[in-house]
Amino acid sequence: MESNFSIRPATEDDLPAILEIENSVYPIPWTAEQFKAEIEKPFANVLVLTDDDTDQIVAGYVVFWMMFDECHILNVAVHPNWRGLGIGGKLTRIAVDFALKKELKRVFLEVRKSNEAAVKLYQKVGFFIDHIKPRFYDNGEDAYFMVMYLTRPNHF
Ligand SMILES: CC(C)(COP(=O)(O)OP(=O)(O)OC[C@H]1O[C@@H](n2cnc3c(N)ncnc32)[C@H](O)[C@@H]1OP(=O)(O)O)[C@@H](O)C(=O)NCCC(=O)NCCS
Repeated sequence: MESNFSIRPATEDDLPAILEIENSVYPIPWTAEQFKAEIEKPFANVLVLTDDDTDQIVAGYVVFWMMFDECHILNVAVHPNWRGLGIGGKLTRIAVDFALKKELKRVFLEVRKSNEAAVKLYQKVGFFIDHIKPRFYDNGEDAYFMVMYLTRPNHF
């Protein structure tokens, strides 16, 4: 990366850059209204990784909920120009770090069975496949339900 990138909460000003990524990576992308709703939810976090020079280039983002004693990662995406640099891992670990700080018990997510890159990314970060959710997606595809426990046995 030419300039340094840092993570901060997303604002509505980031939506065009977020949507550019979202629309290029998902068959059924979230809309601006969906992202706005997430930004406003008190239990949701929408974080973007932006360049320190202009703070406007969005290399990727993560959306996660922290409710009760769990963290649910709903969306992790990296701009195609910035893949393979560890950004997806960094964004996923940020959600885990938030959950650790809040002393939550586990972090979980759903991912398409066919999304090999994402499954490998989550496994590398420390998630395991707990079970399959049959026909979880609109096109009938199954999801892997992946989990990371944050209790002691996971860390020692
Ligand atoms: C999945 C995604 C977030 C990965 O982002 P990234 O920044 O390129 O990932 P990283 O550079 O942090 O890679 C971390 C690990 O993930 C795995 N990985 C990432 N891309 C991969 C690919 N194309 N094929 C296989 N494994 C891959 C590897 O294990 C990699 O570790 P390594 O570099 O030591 O081999 C990115 O490809 C993306 O935005 N995809 C579209 C959106 C999406 O599918 N999100 C997940 C929805 S649940």
